[in-house]
Amino acid sequence: MQTDARAGGVLAGWNHHAEIGPTGILRADGATVVDESGRTRLDFIMGWGSLLLGHRPAAVADALRQALDDGFGFQYEGPPTVDLAAAMCEQIPCAQKVRLANSGLEATMYAIRLARHFTGRSRVLKFEGHFHGLNDFLLYNTDNSAAPGQARPDGSLEVMSGSDGLARVLESEIIPVPFNDLAVLERVFAGHGQDIGAVICEPIAMNIGCIAPDDGFLAALREICDRYQTVLIFDEVLTGYRVALGGAQQLFGVTPDLACYGKAFGCGVPIAAVAGRADIMECLAPPGTVEMSGTNTARRMCVLGARAALAELSRPGFYAELGALNDYLVAGLRRVCEDRGVPAYVTGYGGRVGLHIGVEERPRTMAQIAKFWNRSYHVSCYRHIAARQQTFGLLLPLRLCPEPITVCAVHTRADIDLAFSLLDDAFSALPYRRADS
Ligand SMILES: Cc1ncc(COP(=O)(O)O)c(C=O)c1O
Repeated sequence: MQTDARAGGVLAGWNHHAEIGPTGILRADGATVVDESGRTRLDFIMGWGSLLLGHRPAAVADALRQALDDGFGFQYEGPPTVDLAAAMCEQIPCAQKVRLANSGLEATMYAIRLARHFTGRSRVLKFEGHFHGLNDFLLYNTDNSAAPGQARPDGSLEVMSGSDGLARVLESEIIPVPFNDLAVLERVFAGHGQDIGAVICEPIAMNIGCIAPDDGFLAALREICDRYQTVLIFDEVLTGYRVALGGAQQLFGVTPDLACYGKAFGCGVPIAAVAGRADIMECLAPPGTVEMSGTNTARRMCVLGARAALAELSRPGFYAELGALNDYLVAGLRRVCEDRGVPAYVTGYGGRVGLHIGVEERPRTMAQIAKFWNRSYHVSCYRHIAARQQTFGLLLPLRLCPEPITVCAVHTRADIDLAFSLLDDAFSALPYRRADS
């Protein structure tokens, strides 16, 4: 008998969930996937936010075809690598220099390595619920942790591991704090500011359902980092090239020292980057002494693919259209919830929309979401919708917090209307019940 040789029967564990079905996808095009039984389903996962132009966008596919002709696997420098970095520096406010990587995990790892070297300080402050990839140094206090961390006397949080197997010694290097709490930040910096080399954040907490920063929060964070000469890193792996061409830093008008890119930066090709202030970036070898490299980094096919993706994303009107689609999705979800008497908080940016069922007020921290989010009702609705076999991942229930619904530039309003009708149908079949009933 043939056995499944994939460990755990999956290839990417974090992104797998027992609730996801179907497990076998044969192919994908535009906003749809074709499952093993040949059924076409509308995709609301969209490569975990990476496929902003849809599956196999023509411009990226053409670039990959060019790579087949030019030689796709080499890493040597050439005009496309220069063009790609130049485009990023034009588009991203903080980008004076750019270095490429393969994944978001690597980008965040290198960014904090740079910050540690630049400041000579090793501790890193992060926000609970913000996810920076499966990076050993930052895999704490995420929605995969067993529970939100208890507050310590200064308001920082107990360190909660996001995976088994992390070195215990790393725990003393990380300071988790609640998002959107300036008083805690001030207290923690007053106590440990001289040891904190970096603050890293998702400028919009996309991984806990697209929770925006409070008004002025990012600007205040910028000011605190300046005061303590700590490097401010925006992890724009999800927000970059999604919420605006220049990412969340452009949207909120707050410029970090370094920023990390992945996902929509490649629109399907595996590529990532760190971008930022020249004086910090020049610490990278060469000419500096901080190592950042790898055999798979910046292979020509990925560079050509990303260059083509950025050209598409720079098309005038692209973000206005995406924003209109986002707003249509947000408004429709609110309407369905209201019509069916389901309390919910709905929020979204750039086609990534968090639906917080059972939450009456805007949540500001992961702990608030974890406390009020009605997961069991959400799971029932998900199952009801999934059973219809028309969609892939709509209302996907992952961990402690809702996984956002993701649409891309090629979803149509009719596609989104289908999501509304499926959700409406689920709500009518499953009258809302509170989490504790
Ligand atoms: C904000 C953020 N940073 C980093 C990562 C890690 O990126 P990758 O999966 O490419 O390692 C993710 C992945 O979901 C992410 O959402």
